[in-house]
Amino acid sequence: MRTYMTAFLLWAWAAHCADAMTLLRGKEVSRRERNLETLKRSKRGWMWKQFFLQEEYTGTDYQYIGKLHSDMDRGDGAVMYVLTGEGAGTVFVIDANSGDLHATRSLDREEKPSYTLRAQAVNKKNGQPLEPETEFIVKLHDINDNEPKFEKEVYTASVPERSHIGTSVIQVTAHDADDEMFGLSAKLVYSISQGHPYFSVESNTGIIRTALGPSDMDREQREHYQVVIEAKDMAGQRGGLTGSTIVNITLTDVNDNPPQFAQSVYQFSVPELSEPGTEVGQVRALDADIGPNAEMDYTVVGGDGLDVFSVTADKTTQNGILSVRKPLDYEKKKSYTLQVQVRNTHPDPRFVSVDAKDLTTVRINVEDVDEPPRFERPSYVMEVKEDAAVGTAIGSVSAVDQDARRNPVKYTIDRHTDVDRIFNVHAGNGSIFLQKPLDREDLAWHNISVIAAEFNNPQQTSRVPVYIRVLDVNDNPPALASFYETFVCENAKSGQKIQTITAVDQDEPSGGHRFFFMLAPESSVKANFSVRDNGDNTAGIYTRRTGFRRAQKSTHLVAVVISDSDSPMMSSTGTLTVRVCTCDRDGNMEMCSAEALSGTAGLSTGALVAILLCVLILLLIVVLFAALKRQKKKEPLIISKEDVRDNVVSYNDEGGGEEDTQAFDIGALRHPEVMEESSKLRRDVVPSDPPYPPPPLRRTAVTSRDNSDVRNFITQRVQEHDSSPVAPPYDSLATYAYEGEGSVAESLSSLGSGSSESPHDYSYLNEWGPRFRKLADMYGADEIEWDS
Ligand SMILES: *[C@@H]1O[C@H](CO)[C@@H](O)[C@H](O)[C@H]1NC(C)=O
Ligand SMILES: *[C@@H]1O[C@H](CO)[C@@H](O)[C@H](O)[C@H]1NC(C)=O
Ligand SMILES: *[C@@H]1O[C@H](CO)[C@@H](O)[C@H](O)[C@H]1NC(C)=O
Ligand SMILES: *[C@@H]1O[C@H](CO)[C@@H](O)[C@H](O)[C@H]1NC(C)=O
Repeated sequence: MRTYMTAFLLWAWAAHCADAMTLLRGKEVSRRERNLETLKRSKRGWMWKQFFLQEEYTGTDYQYIGKLHSDMDRGDGAVMYVLTGEGAGTVFVIDANSGDLHATRSLDREEKPSYTLRAQAVNKKNGQPLEPETEFIVKLHDINDNEPKFEKEVYTASVPERSHIGTSVIQVTAHDADDEMFGLSAKLVYSISQGHPYFSVESNTGIIRTALGPSDMDREQREHYQVVIEAKDMAGQRGGLTGSTIVNITLTDVNDNPPQFAQSVYQFSVPELSEPGTEVGQVRALDADIGPNAEMDYTVVGGDGLDVFSVTADKTTQNGILSVRKPLDYEKKKSYTLQVQVRNTHPDPRFVSVDAKDLTTVRINVEDVDEPPRFERPSYVMEVKEDAAVGTAIGSVSAVDQDARRNPVKYTIDRHTDVDRIFNVHAGNGSIFLQKPLDREDLAWHNISVIAAEFNNPQQTSRVPVYIRVLDVNDNPPALASFYETFVCENAKSGQKIQTITAVDQDEPSGGHRFFFMLAPESSVKANFSVRDNGDNTAGIYTRRTGFRRAQKSTHLVAVVISDSDSPMMSSTGTLTVRVCTCDRDGNMEMCSAEALSGTAGLSTGALVAILLCVLILLLIVVLFAALKRQKKKEPLIISKEDVRDNVVSYNDEGGGEEDTQAFDIGALRHPEVMEESSKLRRDVVPSDPPYPPPPLRRTAVTSRDNSDVRNFITQRVQEHDSSPVAPPYDSLATYAYEGEGSVAESLSSLGSGSSESPHDYSYLNEWGPRFRKLADMYGADEIEWDS
């Protein structure tokens, strides 16, 4: 039993090894050999691993593949063969009894190169497998049934014209579906069947190259080529299959052609008044190249209009555009001849010389145009003396018609520039005349426009500015620069300068002003003052004597003659007002004569208005006071004359101080200085306590000049009121009665006599507190007169 098992295993190993060997040998083993082997193997059992079958069988009957045979089959018909796997029963059929394998139809290797099938021998009677199932492969044997195919039907390629021979253009590739590993069915060779002699193809790579030299590959002669390339299998041998493709080859442009003018002579005409920049015409040069290789530059290189015309290339058409560069004048030059050159912008020195150019001649005729007259000068400046007589010719303008016919010219003045019609122009010869008198001091320049028109064609006009300068004539006398009003001190010394004067003159002499000053004859006799010319257009007024007396003569008038240096010499007399004033030691004016002060002749209207305003305000205050007094009538300020005398101080302030605006207008009575002073000390309040005990009363009549006691009395009272914190507000009325120190005649006062019927003059000092002192300071005590 063990021996039998070993023998079987050995057999199985050996069989397997043999199969492996067969497989290893693979493709090198020829079909016939393999068939022999299979045949050999089939005798030994289920040992068929591969069957080979020719593709593309064309016979009508089933194609025989091979025979399956089992060792179990003894030919007694007890064995049945069963086939399963790819295509079993359809593509492949087996004779169940004989084991003959057939293909039912033609097969294509390129569609499916092999089929895997399984076979089994079974007992016909009970269907029991006699052997394990065995797998085998049916391989299709390749024949050259596919032609080479190119990747594209049409290729497009380009190569620069004038390329060297053998320049690579493009590579084309074809593929063959047949078995590359077996035979030559897929071995391709390329050839060119159309495109000779310009191109060639490398037979093994499919690279297309140029086949002619640069001179024959000229884009300007032929641009497009259609090349046909063939690929042949079987290494190009007879019987091989062929595929083909079209290659469209375009030659690209290189700059191998210089531009050339289409015409050797061009003729244009242009109107003479064409503005610079106007197009005259276009010249055209041709270039066989295209694109940037056909771009060109034009230049005017010669002729008599070298700087009069210019030429530029039109970027789109590449034409040369001629245009006017400088103004043309038919009357001066009627035609021009130019030499215009053209050359490529981007020349390619490999093909054409860099200097390659072409020339053409351009004739340009200038056409006559009816032109307006033209003034000889762009502007005119004329001068006329301001005293020139009406009718004087100032100057002349001149314009000439530019046309060949030289039409006569008519001149007019643009009246918008000479509204007052001061000037006139001679229509025929352009002379400008004065029509009205001039005044330089009024207007120094008259800037007018003169129009020149063609006599026959008034539309043709041109204008020119004429600047007329009015020259100065000494027609204005100098005068004092201002109204001089000065003063001389009573204590002035002789030879003392009291004023410096200067003068003005409306004229404007070219050398500047030079004024001379001297005393007028009327002031020279018994002269009290002298004039000293400083030589610089100023003069000093000096006293000539001492002892001016206000009382004697309060105002002196000094007449001064001022003259200029021009010819004719002009002069005028100016008068200074000199007042006589009292001065302090330092010569500061203290008091001038009332006459002089009151003189309002020299006052300006502004001052007058100010004065009027002052008066008005004063009136207002007075009216206010009247109103105030009426309001307080119930309790009159001074109840009776008796009271006035007996009560030294009568306070009658019932108002609410400054807050009480109803009572009376404090504003009108306010004195800023006092306000400030008093506010530091106190607020205006109604005193709660009775004021200071009234000072002792003394009654006396003041008759003598010596009244220092009066002064003391007043000073004392004022001080009391100023310093007392309980004193009445500053705007209260304080009444003082003083009767003196007594006299030998006892009391002479009317108070004492009690006769109240006789009229009394109580000219006591009544004043608002501090003001009182001021007034008292101002006037010496001897100036105040006290009534007895
Ligand atoms: C190739 O060239 C032919 C003839 O010049 C033309 O008719 C065809 O359209 C071209 N094909 C391509 C893809 O350019
Ligand atoms: C122009 O004509 C006027 C009048 O005949 C004459 O007075 C004047 O001198 C002429 N002017 C010129 C420039 O000839
Ligand atoms: C007239 O022309 C002169 C010179 O150009 C110039 O100085 C002056 O200001 C001008 N006067 C007027 C009124 O235009
Ligand atoms: C000079 O002053 C005297 C007296 O003050 C006077 O009489 C005389 O007219 C004055 N002279 C002149 C020229 O005014």
